[in-house]
Amino acid sequence: MTATVAPPDAVAMREAMGRFATGVTVVTTVDADGRPAGCTISAFCSLSLDPPLVLVCVGRGRRMHALLAAAPGFAVNVLAAHQRDVATAFARTPHDRFAGLATRPGRAGARLLDGAVAHIECDRETVLDGGDHAIVVGLVRAVTTFPGEPLLYARGAFLDLPGPAWDRAAAGAPHEWLLSAPW
Ligand SMILES: Cc1cc2nc3c(=O)[nH]c(=O)nc-3n(C[C@H](O)[C@H](O)[C@H](O)COP(=O)(O)O)c2cc1C
Repeated sequence: MTATVAPPDAVAMREAMGRFATGVTVVTTVDADGRPAGCTISAFCSLSLDPPLVLVCVGRGRRMHALLAAAPGFAVNVLAAHQRDVATAFARTPHDRFAGLATRPGRAGARLLDGAVAHIECDRETVLDGGDHAIVVGLVRAVTTFPGEPLLYARGAFLDLPGPAWDRAAAGAPHEWLLSAPW
């Protein structure tokens, strides 16, 4: 086994952080004129159960940064395994990212995407400094879950877990212990 030791420059950070698999979300909000906005975010995390808090990390250069810092709230759409194209569109498409998508307005107008496996609707609690990103903390006001498997992401790629493997992985986990654990 060959290990690679490197100073934490951008390339090495991407190599290391990419080995931490995540889900994929589309975070939505509205601009000052009430127009819907959204972008793909994998840096999403549960922060607290009591009070219910989550966080998303958004690059300071992104349009979404300014919008999230100003809007009263946002929604986190946890994407399903079949929504790769949605993840790509909300990262790339410069114009109307919602075109052709079925959505409904959630709290304060933030769009909720059909097909997502969870909708997590938040009021903006605070925005913290995170270097070249901002850490946007949301106070969760409503959660809705749907059947289905989540989209997974690691090392710059969407993970393609075949159904039976996913079933085996989920069946082998110590569900009750994990679900009752404090994290
Ligand atoms: C899988 C995936 C995950 C991403 N995660 C993040 C993230 O956590 N934070 C972030 O700022 N950008 C992330 N991006 C990049 C943004 O989605 C992208 O820069 C987008 O164009 C930003 O839109 P905006 O400039 O309209 O805000 C991710 C992109 C992809 C494809």
